[in-house]
Amino acid sequence: MDTYLVTGAAGFIGSHSVDYLLATGHKVIGIDNFYTGNIKNLDQALRSSEFQFLELDVTDEHGLAALFSAHKFAGVLHLAALVSVPESFSKPALNFKTNIAATDTVARLCIDNQCPRIVFASSAAVYGNSEILPNVETARPNPQSPYAAAKLSSEILLLTYTKSYPLEAVCFRYFNVYGPRQDPNSPYSGVLSIFAKNFQEGSPVTVYGDGEQTRDFIYVQDVARANCNALTAKRISSNYYNLCTNQAISLNQVLTLLHQYYPNVTPAQYIASRVGDIRHSRGDASRLQETFGISAQVPFDKGLKKLLAAKSP
Ligand code: UD1
Repeated sequence: MDTYLVTGAAGFIGSHSVDYLLATGHKVIGIDNFYTGNIKNLDQALRSSEFQFLELDVTDEHGLAALFSAHKFAGVLHLAALVSVPESFSKPALNFKTNIAATDTVARLCIDNQCPRIVFASSAAVYGNSEILPNVETARPNPQSPYAAAKLSSEILLLTYTKSYPLEAVCFRYFNVYGPRQDPNSPYSGVLSIFAKNFQEGSPVTVYGDGEQTRDFIYVQDVARANCNALTAKRISSNYYNLCTNQAISLNQVLTLLHQYYPNVTPAQYIASRVGDIRHSRGDASRLQETFGISAQVPFDKGLKKLLAAKSP
């Protein structure tokens, strides 16, 4: 049975990906430093004898090296990251350390320990404010934040390594991932997790800007499936791929839907836009479909209902 390492395993996307890998018959070692992750997200995984968890920071090269010496990994799902665009402005050094340097560390350890593949969490943020939508992988990247620059740098580094070393790399440009277990408790949290929590509690939400910004929201289970597929597929092509639905919805449209479910919640408060914020984001999903034969399955209205039905963390 193959063993996979998942960094950021206690996070939102990490924990769903761990569950998916275990459910499809793989062994998983997960690490997390609980910066945004939560051990509760791993409740289900921790009941499996095929799962081991270690509290470890992905920037701790010695700790990681020991882990690579102790196990023979068939692949690494590298998700551990500083996930917030605004936080990358307030903590640029941490962004560099976590979102660039740690990617390099993980890649070098893979190469040195004959781990053949990395699946890396890149971001749609690399496209920046594109005039042309949907965002296609062939478009020129235009990062608008330290976060986006770091994700793009990591992609370049990984794909360059694949040219000279026995390493394969799949960089998934995640669009806006949402679903149960996304922590809503920080202003840096994903917008849908915050909106869902506030509506459930009956408190008004804050919208940065006019609410007409649009996002391509993709349900977390679709992302977990793609991660598992890219890690375990016999043959892959090292490259970057959008992970998206090619459907976009504005925050105001999301609010209209939420008001249908919770009609008594006070209207949103609108304040200034955030620095580095992208206006419109929607991805072309063809490259993923053509290469991996998969596409997002969960339509937004269904995914939103699943999110609202899940217990808040
Ligand atoms: C998100 C992800 C990022 C990912 C990127 C890919 C998070 C925290 N960020 O960035 O990791 O790489 O998508 O596209 O998951 N907003 C409000 N009110 C709030 C919170 C947010 O109006 O209370 C607005 C933001 O200003 C922004 C939009 O909602 O316009 C989405 O924000 P956010 O969920 O933080 O995600 P992105 O910045 O798009």
